[in-house]
Amino acid sequence: MATPAVEVRRLTKEFVDRRGHVVRAVDDVSLAVREGEFFALLGPSGCGKTTTLRAIAGFEDPTSGEVLLRGRPVQGVPPFHRPVNTVFQDYALFPHMTVRQNVMFGLRMARVAADEARRRADEALDLVHLPGVGERRPGQLSGGQRQRVALARALVNRPAVLLLDEPLGALDLKLRKAMQYELKQLQQQVGITFVYVTHDQEEALTMADRIAVMSAGKALQVGPPDAVYERPSSRFVADFIGETNFIDGVLEAREGALGIVRLADGRTLRAPLRDPDAAVAGAVAVAVRPEKIDLAPTSGPAAQARRDAAASGPTGGPDMRLSELRGRVVEAHYIGTDTRYRIDGGDGVALVVRVQNQLAGFEGMLPRGTEVVARWRVDHASVLA
Ligand SMILES: Nc1ncnc2c1ncn2[C@@H]1O[C@H](COP(=O)(O)OP(=O)(O)OP(=O)(O)O)[C@@H](O)[C@H]1O
Ligand SMILES: [Mg+2]
Repeated sequence: MATPAVEVRRLTKEFVDRRGHVVRAVDDVSLAVREGEFFALLGPSGCGKTTTLRAIAGFEDPTSGEVLLRGRPVQGVPPFHRPVNTVFQDYALFPHMTVRQNVMFGLRMARVAADEARRRADEALDLVHLPGVGERRPGQLSGGQRQRVALARALVNRPAVLLLDEPLGALDLKLRKAMQYELKQLQQQVGITFVYVTHDQEEALTMADRIAVMSAGKALQVGPPDAVYERPSSRFVADFIGETNFIDGVLEAREGALGIVRLADGRTLRAPLRDPDAAVAGAVAVAVRPEKIDLAPTSGPAAQARRDAAASGPTGGPDMRLSELRGRVVEAHYIGTDTRYRIDGGDGVALVVRVQNQLAGFEGMLPRGTEVVARWRVDHASVLA
């Protein structure tokens, strides 16, 4: 495998707070970020994202473990001698300097001649779609424009790696969406490796090539967006990214890659075992996303129509690739694109189901009280400890 652009090996960082207590901000984290990759560190507040980024940048010394940049250990190398630049959430622009002076600043510090620095600064401002504002001061720009200046300043000396700490956090939702798209385009255009910190799961899913999901100082799972969404390896990841139903039970047996889970009332469900910690006879949950579940009424004309369709189909008989749970609709909310149902599956089993509204208006909705069968593909669920 090619040398990673950034490698973090068993990084641990402890702080001592004011009362003398040791806080382990990062706990034995290992990551390898590929050259040219858009890599997201995703997790809730306080999980150690910023500390990890600061250790890569050289603003924090690891308590143990090491950071390698393009295969080279950088222990003791100060931030400005590392081939990385950082974009902070608050932009950290110099208010008394013009935009161009802000962007040129690093180049001037590196003793690049004034003409050359000016030319490259203007190039960088073009790159972030901000031509012609070089003479203004940051205070005369909008939030989104200031964000672009911060980016231009970080890009101007073409670092190997750009570290971004919630760079869009200060922007309103609409501007953030637009900037997400622009940033992604820019990253592909310049081909610089991005390590991007966010607590916004949607942002990570839409922008990143791969995501590391962090919790309490640990990197719980690393993978492409669809892998962490579709095949979460822990309850935390399943819960943090998107919405998930958890059906509690006991792992009765393993059947190859599948786990057989017995629910409290004796029913069983099968699903792929994702969590290496799930032990036979241990408490587990079957996790399944609301949009993976299909609902069929068990009586009435709709049910008859479905039975007729199934009888004329090529297979017939119960489909072993499907899981089924019977229940009753207790809530049905029309939300435009989807209808969101709450299903009472009996014995403490509750499901949220999202069904796309293919029919107009309320026409296709199942009313409250309808007896239903909830079905999903066995491989669309996960057994998690
Ligand atoms: N200098 C410090 N001294 C003491 N504790 C610290 C210090 N810096 C960070 N911490 C603690 O380390 C933990 C991780 O902090 P960090 O800033 O890395 O979290 P984060 O994931 O970036 O959170 P957020 O999303 O809120 O920015 C937190 O509990 C934080 O309080
Ligand atoms: Mg942070």
